[in-house]
Amino acid sequence: MKVLVTGGAGYVGSHAVLALVEAGHEVVVLDDLSTGHQEAVHGARLVVGDIADGEAISALMGAWGPFEAAMHFAARTQVGESMADPGGYFSVNVAGTLSLLRALVAGGVRWFVFSSSAAVYGEPQRTPIPEDHPLAPTNPYGESKRMVESMLRWFEKAHGLRWVSLRYFNAAGADPGGRTGERHAPETHLIPSVLLAAAGRREAVEIFGTDWPTADGTCIRDFIHVSDLAEAHRLALGYLASGGESDVFNLGSGHGWSVREVVETCRRITGRDFAVRLAPRRPGDPAVLVASADKARARLGWRPRLSSLDEMVATAWAWHQKGY
Ligand code: UFG
Repeated sequence: MKVLVTGGAGYVGSHAVLALVEAGHEVVVLDDLSTGHQEAVHGARLVVGDIADGEAISALMGAWGPFEAAMHFAARTQVGESMADPGGYFSVNVAGTLSLLRALVAGGVRWFVFSSSAAVYGEPQRTPIPEDHPLAPTNPYGESKRMVESMLRWFEKAHGLRWVSLRYFNAAGADPGGRTGERHAPETHLIPSVLLAAAGRREAVEIFGTDWPTADGTCIRDFIHVSDLAEAHRLALGYLASGGESDVFNLGSGHGWSVREVVETCRRITGRDFAVRLAPRRPGDPAVLVASADKARARLGWRPRLSSLDEMVATAWAWHQKGY
């Protein structure tokens, strides 16, 4: 199948491109390289461009299409930044996606796989969180993802576009083959931040909050290996192509690890010692985020294979040591 992948030079997108190419799909990546990296794209053509530029997308589809499917990863992704700049987030993540969708349906794309987030749920009322949990995002980033999910329902009614929205929990790790990995600047996510400290490139790790209502007082998150996420995208495409109905799926391991556990696992796997500073809570963090991912297992046949904490930290550390 010929697939257009936006944001295919980014962290999750570049792993999805690997999964698609390995499964024999023909992939064209559209990425503006604002946060992505040209060298992260393997086995696919890279077109540098903006999702908001409908004319450029139509030209791309004319030159390299027709595409049966699109996967949409291109987005701004930092929760804290979205609180300070909601306009920027609605502009890129909502208005940009709208331009993209209009160009895609005009170009005859039939299937659409969307990168959504657990951030659509906001502060959970219960965990593990099922897909029918109320949506109450607590930041513009999560709101932007919810708005796109709403738009998709109307695009389906009007244009017959069938879609799957994948709500990721905490993506972690790197391609076990070392071809791509996580590379953000500045780095704010937990595991790569701890690894920077382990490598001596950051003075200390900060633990944001030790007075949460959890067993060890630190937040609990559901980490999922990025290559397992990538595999879920490939399966979602197969699901749509074989007649599956439009739907939303959580992607998590269904297991919660505390921030302290993650820090200690990084210490053990890297064999490096580093300073840990206990810091105040980070505004906007929910105490516990754990997915119920039963639906993706049952309906997509998804089986995470690499999502033990040791494997996620080990692959992230191997990637880190390549010296990105
Ligand atoms: N944390 C620290 N120290 C750090 C970095 C993070 O203690 O240096 C803590 C955070 O407070 C949080 C946990 O580690 O409790 C995980 O934080 P991340 O920043 O790695 O990830 P988040 O859970 O905040 O965010 C992730 C995704 C978002 C998504 C969000 C909600 O990155 O895209 O989950 O689903 F919106």
